[in-house]
Amino acid sequence: MTVDPQQIAVEGAAAFVAAESLAEIHELELQYLGPQSLLSGMKASFRDLEPEERKVLGSQMNAARQQLELAAQDSRSKLESAARAAQLATERVDLTETLAKATVGHSHVITQTWERLEDVFCSMGFTVADGPEVETDWFNFEALNLPPAHPARSLWDTLYLDSSQLEGLGEEQLLLRTHTSPVQIRSMLRAVRDGSGPPIYVVCPGRVYRRDTADATHLPVFHQIEGLVIDRGITMGDLAGTIESFVKAYFGDEMTSRLRPSYFPFTEPSAEFDISAADGSWLEVGGCGMVHPNVLRAGGLDPQEWSGFAFGFGIDRLAKIRYGVEDLREFVTNDVRFLSQF
Ligand code: DAH
Repeated sequence: MTVDPQQIAVEGAAAFVAAESLAEIHELELQYLGPQSLLSGMKASFRDLEPEERKVLGSQMNAARQQLELAAQDSRSKLESAARAAQLATERVDLTETLAKATVGHSHVITQTWERLEDVFCSMGFTVADGPEVETDWFNFEALNLPPAHPARSLWDTLYLDSSQLEGLGEEQLLLRTHTSPVQIRSMLRAVRDGSGPPIYVVCPGRVYRRDTADATHLPVFHQIEGLVIDRGITMGDLAGTIESFVKAYFGDEMTSRLRPSYFPFTEPSAEFDISAADGSWLEVGGCGMVHPNVLRAGGLDPQEWSGFAFGFGIDRLAKIRYGVEDLREFVTNDVRFLSQF
């Protein structure tokens, strides 16, 4: 029987291509390349051949063996990568569903109000300044014309800090600032120190603290924005005009403002400012006035040369008015049904 190595190779390669599993490939390898295979068996007939024929057949057998080995390798790697792809497909984690369910958050209504106020005042030529929430008694009261034991201190229910455990603080009484007014002093001292002013036109938004029980109109932690203008020849008219421009820019052209005489230790004269409500009534918004000479001095300025006005009001209260919120506590209970309205 003569067997043609080339024919074995063609037949075997086709079988490898058709193989559907690694086990099948293994079987075919034994069949075509193993010790019992036709190719291996052909070696036995070598001794009957002439050297020249032996050479020819030998190289045909090698070529056939190489071809079969390649076919086996090819088929095996095809099956392996198909198996890997199938495994990856079953192990794939589909995240699209989770993504589709996620809701997009947004800034808290108080943050929105805060940022809107900064925008309005910046468009009017003010810059934004800030100061620390832990203040000294001097910045929060004394420098604002409220010496120790001044009766008006009782207007601010203050949370004092026990600083006796903190080394190196000296005699300074620390407290949580009860208003943003100490940033007035810090802004004046800063401007004098770095030579950037006066003139000074700043607003100072920030968090403030009072020893108060939360109710519909009070929060122990809330937000204020302070305004301070220091320049030459500033008058009460500038103050009234600034407040009116602000009210129109923030609430709309149909709204107006009025000043009512009042008392604050750091301004003289002092006023409270109200805005008109839709029903013709007036809503109290904040305090203001001409900066007291003692406050200018505490800020390092000469009251003969400089004058100014200041104002301050609650950011939470303003948001309450603007959005018609009944109870200030809604802002801090973090009920998503409430917050997602804004
Ligand atoms: N600091 C005052 C308060 O918290 C508000 C205030 C009143 C600020 C008059 C001012 C001002 O700048 O001029 O009650």
